[in-house]
Amino acid sequence: MADSTRKLAFVMVGLPARGKTFIARKIARYLSWLGHRTMVFNVGSYRRERLGSRQHHSFFDPRNDAGQAARRDVALAALDDMLSFLREGGDIAIYDATNNTRERRALVRARCEDEGLEVVFVESICNDPALVEENIRANKARSPDYEGVPEEEAVRDFRMRIAHYESAYEEVGEDEGHFVKIIDVGRTLVLHRIEGYLLARVVHYLLNLHVQPRSVWLTRHGESEFNVLGRIGGDSPLSEAGRGYARTLAGVARERIGPDVVVWTSTLRRTIETAEALGLPTRAWRALDEIDAGVCDAMTYEEIADGMPQEYEARQADKFRYRYPRGESYQDVIQRLEPVIFELERERRPVLVIGHQAVLRALYAYMMDRPPNECPYVSIPLHTILELEPTAYGCDERRIDLPPTPVDPEGFRQGP
Ligand code: SIN
Repeated sequence: MADSTRKLAFVMVGLPARGKTFIARKIARYLSWLGHRTMVFNVGSYRRERLGSRQHHSFFDPRNDAGQAARRDVALAALDDMLSFLREGGDIAIYDATNNTRERRALVRARCEDEGLEVVFVESICNDPALVEENIRANKARSPDYEGVPEEEAVRDFRMRIAHYESAYEEVGEDEGHFVKIIDVGRTLVLHRIEGYLLARVVHYLLNLHVQPRSVWLTRHGESEFNVLGRIGGDSPLSEAGRGYARTLAGVARERIGPDVVVWTSTLRRTIETAEALGLPTRAWRALDEIDAGVCDAMTYEEIADGMPQEYEARQADKFRYRYPRGESYQDVIQRLEPVIFELERERRPVLVIGHQAVLRALYAYMMDRPPNECPYVSIPLHTILELEPTAYGCDERRIDLPPTPVDPEGFRQGP
């Protein structure tokens, strides 16, 4: 792990329908993207797998001894698997369960600490009945627990389930160790004994989360003069076809995204020229500049293969970790994109990113929760727009190919 020798377990806490799974998966996605082996262990899934998905609300009543015993068994099965994962090479785990009593949290913490893990409780509290109601209707009543059950019946049963948990609920106290409390979807954050670089970044990340629906649009710049020549890097202007794409993109953006769009480019000419036809304010980020090809900048892929065969081979062998001499690797690009991810999460309006192949691959891997080492192989051709629409626990993708056709749509010859 990057900044600590101790492995980490985030332990979620909160009543049902408080967004615990949303937060757990977001943390996992962020940390996996940064290169930490991270996994979520969701106790609800273990319950469904072992005991079936249809459980009447009375199963969750703390006075139901048989229900309590069965729930404890599945919770411990998930905990055992989590500890095995960390023992066998995992870096960070997230234990996604209600953990609504001190007694349960003490048990989980003791088991983790016995294995030398650091435990951080992440408690989601929501006092806004409208938000809870929205979550119940949007997610819970449609969950596998209520497949085939009429919505109103599902909502009634789920409210009763929440009431059972509420009857036993105890908030995390200062004597329980490290914690973050997220109140009303991030309106307030309370931190206790949050120490170290990694935890500070996770908290910073959590500060930016929201649940408002909106899309993120990704496109490469229009074809550049270097694209036509098959040269990598550089700062060349758009080709004629590239200028044509900029105009087509402006029309599509007006029709499909609307005027309330936030437009980001890199600081390189080809993205700035592509954005110009939009006639909208833009923000040029240095963090969005293309992967730095170092001494290979402005070379063709063939020139690298002929003149620097060792570099060529090294790159073929591990495209994710390979760093151009005096340049960057994909792994480096991910690290420098972190502030862009925070802003992307924070922004509530649609965002259009006009970028470059390697950088967009890294953003795509984050949005689609793909393993970072796969990102050098994601196809993001020139003159194509990707619409990525975050959903409760994932992200939907649509691709639109636009004219004119560039000389080398995939950019294979240039090979970033
Ligand atoms: C569930 O069974 O859905 C969650 C169990 C729990 O965390 O209490």
